[in-house]
Amino acid sequence: MNEHDQRAQFREAPEPEEGTRAAPKFVFAWIAILIVWGVGYYAWQIGKPMLGGDSRTPVATEPSTSEPESSNTAASEDAGASSTASAEVAGVDGKALFSAHCSSCHQATGQGIPGAFPPLTGSKWLQADPNIPIAIVHDGLQGEIEVAGNTFQGMMPPLGGQLSDAEIAAVLTYARSEWGNTASEVSPEAVAKHKERFGDRGSWSAKELTEVFGEH
Ligand code: HEC
Repeated sequence: MNEHDQRAQFREAPEPEEGTRAAPKFVFAWIAILIVWGVGYYAWQIGKPMLGGDSRTPVATEPSTSEPESSNTAASEDAGASSTASAEVAGVDGKALFSAHCSSCHQATGQGIPGAFPPLTGSKWLQADPNIPIAIVHDGLQGEIEVAGNTFQGMMPPLGGQLSDAEIAAVLTYARSEWGNTASEVSPEAVAKHKERFGDRGSWSAKELTEVFGEH
């Protein structure tokens, strides 16, 4: 470095502090806060029902045309096209309805998902007085509920707006007699009576069900 350069250098204002401090401390502090918050939030959510981003509705999950019906021989779609041995009420295929409207949450096996969706296999709620499962499916259910020894706290949407009386009866008749369940059939008339009695009352809680329909 010659003298000329040196003089030129001395004239320069000193560099900012970058050389000694690569980034301000608060940036590191902020990153630390974000990491703690992120990990903490994740840890906090463990074991809670996964409802957060799940805005699927039964309509959105309804399979389009690839339902088991297509694999049945009879092409006509009315009562004549009886499917396998699945429960049918007034010609409505409960099994197909179950896979369209329930299995996304309760699973095709009826075993639900631990911590999120309660099982239907061996459930007392499902196999109780038919008025209880009718109320759940027609009006929805939320709040704490104990099913087969485990507690769930989730929200089941009302399906009364999408399923007819005969469809609710058929899907419940199917679920009440599948996977080793052994409860009685549910009739469309029972669903109609429920609507007459309660109208559009909105979601039930387990406590309300017990209060209104008694212990199961
Ligand atoms: C969007 C997800 C979802 C769908 C679809 C759904 N359920 Fe549920 N279901 C739930 C949740 C969550 C609960 C528990 C609610 C609570 O914690 O209070 C529940 C509870 C139940 C219960 C009472 C508890 C038990 O396990 O027996 C029955 C019976 C039931 N559902 C039947 C059905 C039937 C039949 C269908 C289809 C017609 C259906 N559900 C569709 C999420 C769903």
